[in-house]
Amino acid sequence: MEYSPKVIISLFCCYMLILHITSSTLALKDCEFPAIFNFGDSNSDTGGLAASLLLTPTTPYGETYFHMPVGRLSDGRLIIDFLAKSLGHPYLSAYLDSLGTNFSHGANFATAASTIRLPDLILPAGQFSPFYLDIQYMQFLQLKSRSQLIRHRGEVFASLMPKEEYFSKALYTFDIGQNDLSEGFTRGNMTIQEVNASVTDIITGFSTYIKMNMDPQYGAICCLPYIVADFPSAQKDEIGCAKAYNEVAQHFNHELKLAIVQLRKDFPLAAFTNVDVYYVKYSLFKEPEKYGFELPLVACCGYGGKYNYNNTAR
Ligand SMILES: *[C@@H]1O[C@H](CO)[C@@H](O)[C@H](O)[C@H]1NC(C)=O
Ligand SMILES: *[C@@H]1O[C@H](CO)[C@@H](O)[C@H](O)[C@H]1NC(C)=O
Ligand SMILES: *[C@@H]1O[C@H](CO)[C@@H](O)[C@H](O)[C@H]1NC(C)=O
Ligand SMILES: *[C@@H]1O[C@H](CO)[C@@H](O)[C@H](O)[C@H]1NC(C)=O
Repeated sequence: MEYSPKVIISLFCCYMLILHITSSTLALKDCEFPAIFNFGDSNSDTGGLAASLLLTPTTPYGETYFHMPVGRLSDGRLIIDFLAKSLGHPYLSAYLDSLGTNFSHGANFATAASTIRLPDLILPAGQFSPFYLDIQYMQFLQLKSRSQLIRHRGEVFASLMPKEEYFSKALYTFDIGQNDLSEGFTRGNMTIQEVNASVTDIITGFSTYIKMNMDPQYGAICCLPYIVADFPSAQKDEIGCAKAYNEVAQHFNHELKLAIVQLRKDFPLAAFTNVDVYYVKYSLFKEPEKYGFELPLVACCGYGGKYNYNNTAR
């Protein structure tokens, strides 16, 4: 494997931040979303990168719940899986998977290692997914128009594609942004202050993207998380997390909050929900026993060392 697990396997250390935008006023009344369209990175990839670039996670991924690796960068299910189930839908098929997919209740455009902005170093030679947010959105437009042509063929074809009206009633979720920060930290040679200063630009990119592309009648949920891997020299906070990196994550969340306030003004008919996952995830590290964990900072199945993690191991 040529890719570095550092970016793709982002389930590690302790900083992350999220935000989240939400659903149309109409849909909010009954909370019945006939479909979900998700955009994102490894936090919500249900098999896109594995199918497209054949960067398939191997065991022990998937052994606990699916009993085999299923393209998720997680042993168990992801937040997006629980979300789909809670709406009574099947798990979302990855748009890029050409085998056995069913988009009747939505599609997942997320691929591990995706960014908001066009990354410099693209897989397989580099570290980041070529399917960054703009590309994911173009894929969504493809699905939106072509799915209706396919539905017209009838029978099995119709049962595999979303109905036309689902697009305006669907829940739109975004879980992306952490790799934009990772790019600065891990590959771009930037100082913490430089990465911190790039946050505004990343958030502006995201807001601009939403403004240009969002049909005001759509709802959307948006999550932007960020995580740190191992920076041995970084100053740690009281629970062992890389302090300054987390501060950048928090700054990111703060800017995102301001951007959402503006988006609410720009799209009065849409509902934006912003979930600060930083807080939720930080508590996993702070009070691990409460959630059944013993060694919150140590990878489950890595390559040794203090964190059982080695970025150069393959
Ligand atoms: C696709 O999924 C929907 C919802 O689960 C189901 O009703 C439909 O039969 C599926 N289509 C095929 C061809 O399996
Ligand atoms: C990283 O910094 C060094 C020294 O300033 C420079 O030579 C190198 O080109 C930089 N690399 C990147 C990817 O910016
Ligand atoms: C990041 O930038 C913000 C705004 O300029 C500043 O308040 C904050 O202290 C900075 N954080 C770090 C870790 O540099
Ligand atoms: C990480 O892996 C490389 C290559 O397998 C090895 O040379 C190095 O000693 C390892 N580092 C640690 C800290 O285990």
